[in-house]
Amino acid sequence: MSAPIKLILDLDTGIDDALALAYALGSPEVELAAVVCSYGNVTVDTATRNTLALLRLLGHPEVPVYRGADRALDAKAAFEPPAGVVRIHGENGLGGQELSGWCYAAPRNGVDYLAGALDAASEDLRYVPTGPLTNLALALRATSADASALPRATFMGGALTVPGNVTPCAEANIRNDPEAADAVLRSGLPTRMIGLDVTHQVVLTRAETACWRALGTPAGRFFADMTDHYIGIYETNNPHMGGCALHDPLAVAAAIDPSLVGCHAANLRVDLDGATRGRTVCDPDRLRDAQKNCEVALTVDAPRFLEGFLARVERALA
Ligand code: BDR
Ligand code: CA
Repeated sequence: MSAPIKLILDLDTGIDDALALAYALGSPEVELAAVVCSYGNVTVDTATRNTLALLRLLGHPEVPVYRGADRALDAKAAFEPPAGVVRIHGENGLGGQELSGWCYAAPRNGVDYLAGALDAASEDLRYVPTGPLTNLALALRATSADASALPRATFMGGALTVPGNVTPCAEANIRNDPEAADAVLRSGLPTRMIGLDVTHQVVLTRAETACWRALGTPAGRFFADMTDHYIGIYETNNPHMGGCALHDPLAVAAAIDPSLVGCHAANLRVDLDGATRGRTVCDPDRLRDAQKNCEVALTVDAPRFLEGFLARVERALA
């Protein structure tokens, strides 16, 4: 039997981050080494509390949880989610479903933990941020390692060939800290971008959440109710999609099995000014460089992903 894939998640724990966590815990080839928390869908404190509570609900309280950055690189104050985001993920980030029984985060700062973990990393480490890239940008500043020699980060964020979801140009995770994303994409770190180009192609419906409820477990009921809240938002905002997009779980899936997505190799940067702030775009200055640092996912085997998603999440909820 081959050695398990070591996974570090970096979550701004709202609803699809919770689904990504369940996906990871239900993946037999994965050992979840730690979760670093971020702000975005909620504050970093709420993300940390949600992660701890979800790990207990899913039977894995032993996984260490680290509190990361509370704001974007250039922000003066700690991040508070705007009203539109509160509506999507609910006041508590979990669709308003209450969870009790959380315990305490590890005392070490999430950025220090991440810098140490990347420095010490071997080939079998997969790091998957599904919120803003602030923790990663700070960790890269903190390590003396050559970024190009570090393990690839598979991040959920950005939009190369499709419009954004918070502005016509920008996707939410990148828009929450464009400077951090730009620094990561220019650092030489190998990355794989799982953006709206592919995450809007993988959709979950109420038929599947009904199966989770029918499991009859507390986790099954919780995840069904939480996800139905998210699907309800999509029914109002994006009725043409017929369900909710599985942004963050697809990033975890593509980190474990890159063959699920088809990628275009490119050197990206992020627009930092004006109306296009937060847009991910090919960097004209590095267009002819032979070395490309980012694999941008543009196609996805949606049926295969969805089949694996349902099997893995069901295993985590049973
Ligand atoms: C991304 O933004 C967050 O709201 C979601 O959790 C996901 O990571 C989608 O744009
Ligand atoms: Ca997220």
